[in-house]
Amino acid sequence: MHAAKPSGGLPFLPFARPTIDEPMVSAVADTLRSLWITTGPQVLAFEKALSEYHGGRPVRVFTSATAALEVALLTAGIGPGDEVIMPAQTFFSCANAISRTGARPVFVDVDPITRNMDLEATEAAINPRTKALMPTHFAGLPLDMDALYELAGDTDLRVIEDAALAIGSRWKGRRIGSFGDIASFSFHPNKNITTIEGGALVFADDTEAARCEPYRFHGITRNSDGTRDVTVLGGKYNMPDVNARLGIMQLARLDEFISRRQTLVARYFKQLHTDPPCVLPASGDSGHSWNFFAPLLPLNQITLSRKGVMDALQAAGIGSGISYEAVHLTSQYRKLGYQEGNFPHAERIARATLTLPLYPTLLESDVDRICDTLKSILHSAKR
Ligand SMILES: Cc1ncc(COP(=O)(O)O)c(C=O)c1O
Repeated sequence: MHAAKPSGGLPFLPFARPTIDEPMVSAVADTLRSLWITTGPQVLAFEKALSEYHGGRPVRVFTSATAALEVALLTAGIGPGDEVIMPAQTFFSCANAISRTGARPVFVDVDPITRNMDLEATEAAINPRTKALMPTHFAGLPLDMDALYELAGDTDLRVIEDAALAIGSRWKGRRIGSFGDIASFSFHPNKNITTIEGGALVFADDTEAARCEPYRFHGITRNSDGTRDVTVLGGKYNMPDVNARLGIMQLARLDEFISRRQTLVARYFKQLHTDPPCVLPASGDSGHSWNFFAPLLPLNQITLSRKGVMDALQAAGIGSGISYEAVHLTSQYRKLGYQEGNFPHAERIARATLTLPLYPTLLESDVDRICDTLKSILHSAKR
């Protein structure tokens, strides 16, 4: 996150920015003053509010979505010898969470239009070691949930939805997390709502939700005599009450935040006509929560690299990001034998993607400024 700084008199526009209002600041201060600052009543209240938002399903919160994904995998019994299929272009933490359980991430290509995990490639990658599918709802655009759950049902596989970017997204009118198997949300400051750092799992049943609890707190279960036992190899992933209090306040504004994101994206679609043209993301339907907006740069029609474009934007007071690099081409995952050419769509998107500023407090005039600046950078660099 960049601090706001003046640029030719204009404010700096970071590519993501949380919305923190004064009532949120006072609510957090009240929790601090209460002196119950780690996991306690606010965590229970936040889990209850998240559960209500997701049709009454059981919810457990964590210190991050990365922790939540790891706990979801462990709770589903995934470990050494198992394989979990995931997209080649998403955030690194998905592959890391799978690997940290001892299982192996198996990458598949993404759909060139939606940038979501390609379900035909997924089906082709399933083998007797496959235990789960872990797709990301890319940028907040839901994966085809009918096709995903048909495939999971036919193959008897668990689904852990990486919905880090998709709290509030809807598939055919139903919220992501309110149906399906396990969904994992992130509350990092770049996400649709924030708890500073944090994450949540939404489960299909109470028994499994209860079973995940030891994994987030040292593996501890309580004995009837008041002593404690350690029953599994747990982590230290419990969300503090201070963060949960912020989460409660944020959740109350989530639908408003999403509607603002949708309005700003409509403006991007209207204004972002560059020469040479960028490839704009799939618009999806009204269920897209637009956690980020990332066109693909026309790199072979301009003399600048992506870094050159990012530097030129930065010089004009506009932040940008890369969401994301191809995971299979990182040093860690090349060790599994992956290389360039394995997943052409993921690799092409990873090379050309550029995340532009998008957050609820961005103004329409800011979007116009971003589009005009990018138009002028690309036009001056045209081959
Ligand atoms: C697609 C995706 N999945 C998972 C995560 C992990 O979220 P967290 O930072 O809460 O661990 C992120 C975080 O950026 C993400 O972008």
